[in-house]
Amino acid sequence: MSIDGRVAVLGVGTMGEAILKGLRSGDHPVPASRLRGTVRGKSRAQELTRRLRVRIGTDNVHAVREASVVVVCLKPMNVLRVLRELAEAGALEHAPLVLSVAAGVSTQALESVVGKSPVVRAMPNTPCAIGKGTTVLTGGARAKKKHLQTAHRIFQPLGESLELDEKHFDTVTGLSGSGPAFAYLMVESLADGGVMMGLPRDVAVRLAARTLLGASEMVLATGSHPAALKDDVTTPAGCTIAGILALEDGRIRSTLARAVEKAAACAAGLGNSER
Ligand SMILES: NC(=O)c1ccc[n+]([C@@H]2O[C@H](COP(=O)([O-])OP(=O)(O)OC[C@H]3O[C@@H](n4cnc5c(N)ncnc54)[C@H](OP(=O)(O)O)[C@@H]3O)[C@@H](O)[C@H]2O)c1
Repeated sequence: MSIDGRVAVLGVGTMGEAILKGLRSGDHPVPASRLRGTVRGKSRAQELTRRLRVRIGTDNVHAVREASVVVVCLKPMNVLRVLRELAEAGALEHAPLVLSVAAGVSTQALESVVGKSPVVRAMPNTPCAIGKGTTVLTGGARAKKKHLQTAHRIFQPLGESLELDEKHFDTVTGLSGSGPAFAYLMVESLADGGVMMGLPRDVAVRLAARTLLGASEMVLATGSHPAALKDDVTTPAGCTIAGILALEDGRIRSTLARAVEKAAACAAGLGNSER
């Protein structure tokens, strides 16, 4: 199903660009004439307009006026201020769907500044840039099924999208939002081990990345518990169990779990400081 009307993306940075590219791809691409984007700097707006072949400007009010969906991809600290400015300028009077990807900014906070607009909150992650992302969605008090459907359609070309209760959003931010960075660290560290033992760096990085990719696909494809898959590959007195014990000595489990806990706690405070 296609997306009706115009879509304005406020803040065409990493996430905004991925979303605009997604809107231009997939089975039902949105024509460029129905897309608008904004950034702060004029020269960056010009460069993005040339590169993405979508009109990118610096005037949020202008971009939003005729949009049926406003996708907010600003840094969390800027979100409420910019939306308040739009509401004060009357740019949200037609009550477009406001879809925010900002970490730590609740639907309740968004609803308090957008007038009658329904609100959907999303937590995507950076693999969205290559169509391999995971996005969690939740609707605010005024959001109806059709608004969540529109949000799914926007994120569908970027990977997988699912819905969860908003109480889980900070945790989702700590796990799948911040998670790609944790995985990069794991790829780098595994590759370092390979380099230490004599592999060329490029080969080591490729082997490490494809190993994490394949193992993740095994978890998803089999539906087996990761511990069962691990048991399947640990031969008694073998090399894999020797490596696992080294990881356990380094407290890998609690270290990774605590990374999610810390990132989630940090996410909870993100939307609180406005600039
Ligand atoms: N990146 C991620 O992995 C990720 C994952 C999940 C959620 N998110 C959420 O996505 C949001 C954006 O993150 P990001 O990483 O994409 O940030 P980013 O790359 O820094 O992009 C932010 C964009 O906002 C623009 N901007 C700043 N003030 C503006 C204003 N007043 N009006 C219009 N545009 C304005 C900036 O323009 P200039 O370039 O001209 O300064 C920049 O292009 C954040 O709220 C974050 O929580 C990000």
